[in-house]
Amino acid sequence: MNVTAMIPMVLVSQAMHVGEIIHLPPAKVKGEMSLEESIAKRRSIREFAAKPLSIEQIGQLLWAAQGITEKDKGLRAAPSAGALYPLETYVVLPEGVYHYNPQRHELKRVLAGDRRLELQKAARDQEAIGSAPAVLVFTGVYERTAAKYGDRASRYVSIEAGHACQNVLLQATAQNLASVPVGPFEDTQVAKIINLAKNENPLYLMPVGYPME
Ligand SMILES: Cc1cc2nc3c(=O)[nH]c(=O)nc-3n(C[C@H](O)[C@H](O)[C@H](O)COP(=O)(O)O)c2cc1C
Repeated sequence: MNVTAMIPMVLVSQAMHVGEIIHLPPAKVKGEMSLEESIAKRRSIREFAAKPLSIEQIGQLLWAAQGITEKDKGLRAAPSAGALYPLETYVVLPEGVYHYNPQRHELKRVLAGDRRLELQKAARDQEAIGSAPAVLVFTGVYERTAAKYGDRASRYVSIEAGHACQNVLLQATAQNLASVPVGPFEDTQVAKIINLAKNENPLYLMPVGYPME
């Protein structure tokens, strides 16, 4: 049994500091909503209830984004040019900023403290970001793709962020959660807020939460 999965996020966080790991519960591959229904129901929703997401919900969203779906070859939920996987995924929670490790299906806390409001300010002050209980951030490392595809890399990496984002939107809908993709933001500010490495480019922000009643 995964004990961490049963502990509310807020309790996990109290015992944790930067560098510590949250083991995510295994993702479900069967759900209650059909793919067709999820596609039909998906809408950009920008107002969220003040209710935290569970570790299971967060794990499921991250799995949909970049989780391993074929262990032997390390293939992921979203397609990637040459299976080079240039995307990195972060989740910004009230407890801190966490980096997702797809191979281990776990989160590593990279920063402590609530960065959501700073992120909101960096993204044209859109309240969807500051008010969501979780904000996914996709970043891209262009070199990984450029090594094989040269100057088409920036195109491919952006396309891949779109694939991952759409998976999350449909997964969120299937869990009766709400989300919206956010494209406009100050790259340098976002990079600073979540402490990105120099070769990591922020591509997409995705606030996720329960829809406002
Ligand atoms: C690249 C991209 C960037 C977007 N950026 C924002 C944004 O910054 N804020 C926002 O509220 N919606 C944003 N959206 C969502 C669109 O406004 C939304 O998809 C559109 O109005 C259609 O509505 P629907 O998603 O409910 O079908 C973005 C969508 C895309 C594809």
